[in-house]
Amino acid sequence: MNEWIDQLHCVDCIEWLGRIDKPFADLVFADPPFNIGYQYDKYRDRVRSEQYVAWTQDWMAQCVRVLKPHGSLYIAIGDEYAAHIRLIGEELGLSLRNWIIWHYTFGQQTKAKFARAHTHIFYFVYDAKHFTFNDFAVRIPSDRQLIYNDRRADARGKMPDDVWSQYSRVCGTFKERCGWHPCQMPEILLARIISVSSNPGDIVLDPFIGSGTTAMAAKKLGRRFVGLDISENYVQNIHKRLSDLDIGSKPKPSENLFDSELNCREILELQRLYVEIGINAAEVLNQPKLLSLYAKQFSIRMNNGKEYPPGDLVACLKELTTWIPRKQKVSSHLQSSLSAQP
Ligand SMILES: C[S@@+](CC[C@H](N)C(=O)[O-])C[C@H]1O[C@@H](n2cnc3c(N)ncnc32)[C@H](O)[C@@H]1O
Repeated sequence: MNEWIDQLHCVDCIEWLGRIDKPFADLVFADPPFNIGYQYDKYRDRVRSEQYVAWTQDWMAQCVRVLKPHGSLYIAIGDEYAAHIRLIGEELGLSLRNWIIWHYTFGQQTKAKFARAHTHIFYFVYDAKHFTFNDFAVRIPSDRQLIYNDRRADARGKMPDDVWSQYSRVCGTFKERCGWHPCQMPEILLARIISVSSNPGDIVLDPFIGSGTTAMAAKKLGRRFVGLDISENYVQNIHKRLSDLDIGSKPKPSENLFDSELNCREILELQRLYVEIGINAAEVLNQPKLLSLYAKQFSIRMNNGKEYPPGDLVACLKELTTWIPRKQKVSSHLQSSLSAQP
């Protein structure tokens, strides 16, 4: 088995998984073609609906077959087949934990109906009583902490909800954009899923690896991965994307220009925290209390026995001031409340 772990395989996922004889995946993330006519290299994304549903049943059954008993399965899908995924999951004996809506800006523009700006993400587990869920890795500061200075606030932060509005699609101007795949997902979205539903050293399977987002996030977070795609071009390109990554130390300039002492995992997790909190980095750097809250939440999320001093995050946060074009969410109410805190 070890020879195909931490590897990309140019294969048909149904055929390849069908040859595996025992469960190996702690987590599966699947973002299949949605059957809406996207231009892929080696796959025709418009087939008859019955054919698409039968195909979906097949690949989902294979994913469930190789999922370990405590494993989780996340599936991203559009409106057209969301109901089918829900029902097929049930038929395969999975338990639905959340029906997540990933709401993004930059939806495709329309003239005769509202612009679609969301994707469904189903979060299933194999065993409803035993599964990995690292709540500490996804908690965010609550309004009680951020705004109201309320002593009753849970110092660990609060759980985020099931509508994920913080993650933009990977747009043409983003540094992260690879440019050779039509539907690249953001790494921080994968980082949330991988951090909460797997542990370091676990195996993450992506049967439709595409541009390699899952492999990138898994590697940075210290997980192992198995990535499958039917396109040889995509697989070759992902090899290059992965080879630019030096996980032990500072990322290489081609991957990231951050002038900071944080390693890849820490940088990805700080990017994620930054986006999930949704307050402009310049504001954070100007507010010592906010910066200290950031450092506390970051230490909780990293869960590596280290208390990160706020100063350790400064260089990376400075870089984030120019990172993703985003709305400045901090309100004058929040600013005055923070400066009024003792
Ligand atoms: C929606 S994309 C995945 C995008 C990916 N999540 C990312 O962030 O880049 C779907 C991918 O499935 C691949 N694909 C289609 N049919 C396949 C099959 N039978 N086995 C493996 N991969 C397949 C396509 O080549 C395409 O790259």
